[in-house]
Amino acid sequence: MVDENKLGEYMPGLEGVPATRSNISYIDGKQGILEYRGISIDELCKHSSFLETAFLLIFGNLPTEDELKEFDHDVLHRRRIKYRIRDMIKSFPDNGHPMDALQTCVSAMGLFYPIATPKDLKSPDYIRDVTLRLLAKIPTMVATFHMMRQGNDPVLPRDDLSYAANFLYMLNGEEPDLFMAKIFDICLLLHGEHTVNASTFCALVTASTLSDPFSVLAAAIGTLSGPLHGGANEQVMVMLEEIGSAENVEAYLEGKLTRKEKIMGFGHRVYKVKDPRAIILQGLARELFDKYGHDPYYEVALRLEEVALEKLAHRNIYPNVDFYSGLVYKKLGIPVDLFTPIFAIARVTGWLAHWKEQLVDNRLFRPTQVYTGKRDIRYMPIAD
Ligand code: ACO
Repeated sequence: MVDENKLGEYMPGLEGVPATRSNISYIDGKQGILEYRGISIDELCKHSSFLETAFLLIFGNLPTEDELKEFDHDVLHRRRIKYRIRDMIKSFPDNGHPMDALQTCVSAMGLFYPIATPKDLKSPDYIRDVTLRLLAKIPTMVATFHMMRQGNDPVLPRDDLSYAANFLYMLNGEEPDLFMAKIFDICLLLHGEHTVNASTFCALVTASTLSDPFSVLAAAIGTLSGPLHGGANEQVMVMLEEIGSAENVEAYLEGKLTRKEKIMGFGHRVYKVKDPRAIILQGLARELFDKYGHDPYYEVALRLEEVALEKLAHRNIYPNVDFYSGLVYKKLGIPVDLFTPIFAIARVTGWLAHWKEQLVDNRLFRPTQVYTGKRDIRYMPIAD
């Protein structure tokens, strides 16, 4: 029996309620600071790579040169997916959403490996092996679905290409230039981890049942897909296309706010200033447009930010990570419905880091509730 007096205050959406102790990442939402293992994301974007940062997030420290070489090699050699998974992807409907395809594939991976025993979940070798497998294969599964839904054969991963370059290559069989691959690598790094957001919390809850890591990630992928979370990056691009040109921004925004609808890519539960990731992504978008030519939607986005801030900044609503990422992905030639799967490719690192951390001193998540229903009602037979 729960002692009602001991219940904390009910916080819708668990806002401000600590759900775990973690040393993986840190956010200061008032100052717009994000750090992975204590290192600012600005530093990491300037000097690190996605795989090096994945190692940092998952194993807790920056790798030595030899460790990184080995990690890189071990990921590279696990990129191919099982032919039965490829055949399964072939049977997916062409117009299904790639997030559903990815969730199904990750879940199906669990069919091919023995169910994780409690002993496995304590074994560093098991954790490392499954980490490598998931990091390596998830991009291949996304690209395979994309090729097959167009009626093409999948493009096999290429061992001489980096993680980021190889993914872009698998999307259409064309090798990206180094600049594009570098920009994409930074995007992945920026999306790698973000404390206890909705999908990571979901991963923690699933992990706490000692479920296998494929279920943990499949659950997190499903949570990421919603438009209030990772799915917002796709919705931002849809919105920019709908607005069409900078002159239409004011009327569009006025209409949205009058109808009390949300502006996608704006607002954040934790940040009360512009999301530091949005600042970096905006810079990347500018670099891409300077090098490869202008994109009309960039002007729309800039004008939208300007007008939206006049109306929303006093309520601490600023652009979040999803506002500029789509413009970058579009310029890299990535179709809009792959934006959220790309978020998942990156966030696998954060999910795995939290899964690993949760297993160290696991306690089953089992919150309580504030019951608002009736009590002691007598059953009424249907005939009466
Ligand atoms: N546009 C307009 N108004 C907004 C927006 C927005 N994008 N975001 C919040 N508000 C307003 C709400 O309408 C609400 O107003 P009210 O108090 O008059 O009802 C107030 O601000 C508080 O909004 P909540 O949704 O309760 O605030 P919350 O802390 O839950 O917001 C959230 C976080 C869900 C991300 C919200 O800002 C939102 O829906 N944004 C749009 C979707 C989006 O971009 N999601 C991606 C977030 S980043 C990520 O998950 C990777």
